Amino acid sequence: MKISVSRIYFVSFILCAAVFAMQSARASDDGLALTPPMGWNSWNKFGCNVSEQLIRDAADAMVSGGMRDAGYQYVVIDDCWQVSRDENGNILPDPQRFPSGMKALADYVHGKKLKFGLYSDAGTKTCAGRPGSRGYEFQDARQYAAWGVDYLKYDNCNAMDATMEQDYTAMGNALKATGRPIVYSLCEYGEAHVEKWGPSAGANLWRTTGDIRDEWDSMANRNGFSQNDLAPYAGPGHWNDPDMLEIGNGKMTDEEYRTHMSLWSLLASPLLAGNDLRTMTQATRDVLMNTEVIAIDQDPLGRQATRLVQQGSEDIWTRPLADGAVAVGVFNRGEAAMTVTLNASDLKLAGAPLSARDLWAHKDVTFDKGAYSTTIPSHGVFLLRIRGAR
Ligand code: GLA
Repeated sequence: MKISVSRIYFVSFILCAAVFAMQSARASDDGLALTPPMGWNSWNKFGCNVSEQLIRDAADAMVSGGMRDAGYQYVVIDDCWQVSRDENGNILPDPQRFPSGMKALADYVHGKKLKFGLYSDAGTKTCAGRPGSRGYEFQDARQYAAWGVDYLKYDNCNAMDATMEQDYTAMGNALKATGRPIVYSLCEYGEAHVEKWGPSAGANLWRTTGDIRDEWDSMANRNGFSQNDLAPYAGPGHWNDPDMLEIGNGKMTDEEYRTHMSLWSLLASPLLAGNDLRTMTQATRDVLMNTEVIAIDQDPLGRQATRLVQQGSEDIWTRPLADGAVAVGVFNRGEAAMTVTLNASDLKLAGAPLSARDLWAHKDVTFDKGAYSTTIPSHGVFLLRIRGAR
């Protein structure tokens, strides 16, 4: 089908204005996560099989493999690092798996110029049955701060739905009371309109979906493409989180992983890699470390993309960027290749160069006679940065 590029710009402008008006009322004030957090989390690949050696290896690999230089920063241990509490209620890491303790591990991660994150839960037990923080919010937060924690993911298993907002706010207050800057990530799967109260609970990001799986339907249909209505709630310091990345975990194609990375970046989503960083293929590196795509995710304007077109297997999402450009993602959700023509004939921006960058081919694109045609493979994406477009 033919897409009028001027329509893309017009709709982007209107959304921009509306979103800006909504965001300025609720901007986070803790100065953290001014762009979506980037890093690595143990859960998607390793589940409960975590240890201090794994975390050290992940930190090493983030540095040696270039991820740190590409912007990945947080090394987050998900569930199962904790086993019990001592007689004073202090939370205890698994002594077999973390024999040196959390302070030493945080110091190691900090020594690599990375940041250190942990996981806990608003209920009595975590999802894997480890001790939760219910009733211990201030004690746990003080302990995390003493260890040097920079990021807390806070889950919602074995918790109380009726007091969810208060319980998340309690931990938000506890983290603030430590005086240490700790990014606060809510994980209650997008329930109870968390996007509306997340910022006042002190959150910098909040999960908006159930758990992602390493398969197309979960990543694309259930998580990524379901985020349109949440765009007004994202902005510097407070982000929607459609869950961590599955890129490189092996059950999707590289084409699908490019779609995953493109969609998450358009959505201003946190980019938390969830694969084994020690054994990444070059193809996985090329997806996770495409700095032109990361620049879309990390754009300082912080506007989340919205859907412009959904027609058959075609989905077009656009995101206004700080330098006046617009990021455009044309997705093929279907099972067969699709040819798309982006038509710029009625573009009315006086003097604006009709110049774009194909962010996966890493090449400039010109709209010959005002149009550009391309073929997008099944489950693939054509991701453009159109310059001077707003
Ligand atoms: C929930 C979360 C996951 C992970 C597990 C750990 O399912 O959504 O991301 O943290 O708990 O048990």
